[in-house]
Parts: sequence; structure tokens; C-alpha cells
Amino acid sequence: MNRTRCDRTPAWKALKAQFDATGRSFDLRAAFGSDPQRFDTFSQRAPHVFADLSKNLIDTATQSSLLDLARQSGLTQHRDAMFAGDKINHTEQRAVMHWLLRNPPLAQMQQARPAIKNVSSELTAVHATLDAMLAFAEQVRADAAITDVVNIGIGGSDLGPQMAVLALDGYVSPGKRFHFVSNVDGHELASVLKKVKVESTLFLIASKTFTTIETMTNANSAKAWFAAQGGTDVARHFAALTTNVAAANAFGISTTFGFWDWVGGRYSVWSAIGLPLAIAIGAQGFRAFLAGAHDMDEHFRTAPLEHNLPVRLGLLDVWYRNFHGFTSRSIAPYHSALKRFPAYLQQLEMESNGKRVDASGEALPMGTSPVLWGEPGTNGQHAYFQMLHQGTDVVPVEFVAVKKPQHRLPGHHTLLLANVLAQAQALMLGKSDAGGHKHFTGNRPSTFLVLDELTPTSLGALIALQEHRVFVSGSLWGINSFDQWGVELGKVLAKDVEARLGSGETTGLDGSTSGLLTLLRA
Ligand code: F6P
Repeated sequence: MNRTRCDRTPAWKALKAQFDATGRSFDLRAAFGSDPQRFDTFSQRAPHVFADLSKNLIDTATQSSLLDLARQSGLTQHRDAMFAGDKINHTEQRAVMHWLLRNPPLAQMQQARPAIKNVSSELTAVHATLDAMLAFAEQVRADAAITDVVNIGIGGSDLGPQMAVLALDGYVSPGKRFHFVSNVDGHELASVLKKVKVESTLFLIASKTFTTIETMTNANSAKAWFAAQGGTDVARHFAALTTNVAAANAFGISTTFGFWDWVGGRYSVWSAIGLPLAIAIGAQGFRAFLAGAHDMDEHFRTAPLEHNLPVRLGLLDVWYRNFHGFTSRSIAPYHSALKRFPAYLQQLEMESNGKRVDASGEALPMGTSPVLWGEPGTNGQHAYFQMLHQGTDVVPVEFVAVKKPQHRLPGHHTLLLANVLAQAQALMLGKSDAGGHKHFTGNRPSTFLVLDELTPTSLGALIALQEHRVFVSGSLWGINSFDQWGVELGKVLAKDVEARLGSGETTGLDGSTSGLLTLLRA
């Protein structure tokens, strides 16, 4: 596989020249004025998602150079290597195959591509585990005595299932409550334990490694609470979702659902880590979630680059980060059930692409992951949209709107849609007939994603879209988007500091940590 870092391609130089000539002063209002087809040219249909990219700071020349950039960087070869099961996560010597978790079984594929046949044993294992996990999910759903499901996990073992259970609230069968405990801060677990009863609770211990200190601490405390309340049937009330089944067994859990080292934590909602979602929406719903993601996989894998939505989004991300110098992206889902979507995307983007060296370890001369942040609309409008409209920094906004609501309250949805359209419009158009404090410069870019309805299928597609756009920008930047060494140092230091908090020993510590530690112990 031949990858060339994007800043070393001829297209990079061409884009720099274009940016200096016309890009820096590009005006969206003029662009729409001179091109009545702009909406069509810059929109893209993908499975279950429509995207209007026309309110972004690009013209057809820039788009064409960005596509050259992708070609010259070897994006297609890199993508194909991922979909062939090559070990593209080279710092951990692992394949990257979360997409395989959504692939139908070989027997159901009309014509399986050769690369799938090469991973047929992995695919068989995927479906055996999926069938077992979904059978268990149905068993729990049918068990009226279990009223509370408590997921204990952090990072990818929390954000994906939590976000998806909330997002698909309209599909969650009544009679079960879902709780997510991630933080080592005991307030979180204590607050959940106050609400649940031993005989009606199922604890899911979700950890890819089964070593993460937060999860192990919470799991141990849950187990101790269970015993202290007179609970004895651990097999009925605890299940583990992990690649480290031996550690789960050693912990005392016999009901386990496994997955594999080729599933990154932040890409694991499709695996056994998705069990809370499967319990919430049922086997059929979970299969629809996988199918929506698979549709997006196929789009990403086969659509020509110029009509490939993850590619077009990822290229815009590079354009904004490296040419315009924008350092963040705001996520604005106009659906309250997507309230954890921004948090989910933070891990996906920032843990994947928050890297300062390329795949060969060389320091990068350009920026990588932007900061992602956001809240559901219309709440964000009454908090930080002031800054988006009139602040000194330009922040591209990614709106997500849903055509059909899942409630029947009159008036609300039209008002919601009016707001999302108006915000995107206001960011672009601005307002210049008043001066000073009332002046809006406008020309602020946004992307507008539309789902027909928020269903398991469309949510699956929306998440897979985001996974692949992160792949695209990471690939162009020449980084490994699938490791996360940056979280290790803090973990190691916390062990040392924990011991010092016990002993009070400050020798060798920096002045600030030493002072704070003494203050907190006093
Ligand atoms: O924060 C680092 C990290 O390794 C994430 O990548 C991962 O999702 C999270 O910790 C939880 O890890 P595990 O599932 O192994 O407990």
C-alpha cells in the first residue's frame, strides 16, 4: 500500500495557491448568486443520509483539487487495505475491521468480494457471537423481573451504547431502565445503586481490555454491593462484554460475550459492547442498526470519490483545518435524542486523529484533529451561538436535522426545523444593514445533514458515516487513526499519585502537584 502524506503531494501546493488566490476571500453569498445549481452540485445523497455541503467555503475548482489530494495521498489504497483486513493499525500490529461486525454472513451475500473470503473465519465468529448476544438480549427483554440494566464501562465501552440507547429512545420497549456508569467518581455509581434493587438488576461490565481502572473499580464496587445486599446469583445478574474473557471469568463472571482486538474501543458499539442497545431495541432493531452501517460501508467502499459522502466530508475537514486554519467544529443535532452524539463524536474524532506525528513517527508540520463540541439545538442557540455568529473565530457547524418526528405534539417540529434552517441561513447570510454590535459578517460555513427519521437504520448509517470521514482526514494526514497512546501517560502517573495520596510522600514531585496533593490530603 502506497500512502503519501497530503502535504507532500502536488495537489497540496495547488490548493495552497488556490487558497491564496481565491479561497481566503471566498464568499458564499456571491457563490450562490453566480451559480443557481450550487445546491445540487454540492449536495450528496448517501444511504439513509442526505448532505447539503453547499454552504461550505469551496468551489468546484477547490473540490476537484481536494479530490486530487485524496488520490495522490493513496486514500483509496488505504481504504481498500482496511476493507481487506490488512494490519493498518501498525503501532499495535492490528487489523481494523469494525466494518466486518456489520457485514452480513457469507451465505447471505449474493457475491462476496474476495477480501471477505479471506476473513471468512472472523466473519463466522462475528455472527456466532452476534446470534448468542442477541438471543441473550431477547431473553433479558422477556424477563419482566429484570427492570434495570446497568452498563459499567468507559470511553468506547460507554459513549457508543449510551448515545445510541438515548438516540433510539422511541424504540426502547417499556419496562426496562438503562443506566450508564463510567466515571471512577463514586458519586456516579452510588447514585445508580440508590435507584436499583439486587433482584431486578442486570450489571453489564463492558471493557475491551478488562483492565481499565475506572471500570474495574466500579465493577468491584457493584459486585461488593450485590453481595452486601444478599445477592448470590452472579451468573444471572452479571455479564461481561470483553475481548479478555479469561479476566472476566477470573473476576467471577461466567456469562460473557467476546469481541476481537481488531475492533477499536471507539468503534465497538457494533460488537458485544452494543448489548445494552440490543436489550433496549431488540434483536431486530440491532440488526437494522448494523444494516444501516453496512449500507454506509458499501457506499464508502465503492462510490466514486467525487460522489462519496465520507470522502467529501473528510476532505472539507482537511481544507478547513489546514488551509483556513479553523481549529474546531461544532456539532448541532436538532433532535434532543441525539444529546450524547457530540460527546460520542469527540472520542471518535479526537482520540483517532489527535496525533502530532505521522505513521513513521515524524512530527507533522500541519494541524490534525479539530476540537469537536456541541449541544442539541435549539439549546445551543441560547448558549454559544452568539460566538458562532459574531465571535472572532470562524467555527464550521455541522447541523443534523430529522424530517419526521416521533411525537405528535403540534407545532414543535415545524418550529425546530425552522430554527435549524434559520441558523444555517443566518451564519451564511449575516446582516450588514446595521453597524457595530448588530452587524453579522456572515459567510460562516456549515454542513447540513438530513435523516428522514431517526431509526436504528439511519442512526447506524450516520455513525458509520462519521467513522469513515475520520478515516479520510486521518489517512490524508498520514497518521495512524487507530491507536491512542496519548491516554497512557496520565494512567501511569495516576497510579503513582494514588500511592502518594495515601502516604503523603511528595519527594521528586513538581512544585504544583506537590502543593495540591498536600492541600487535598489535609
Ligand atoms: O481512554 C482510552 C481507552 O483505551 C479508550 O480507547 C477505550 O474506549 C477506553 O479506554 C475503555 O477501554 P476498555 O474498553 O478496554 O475498558
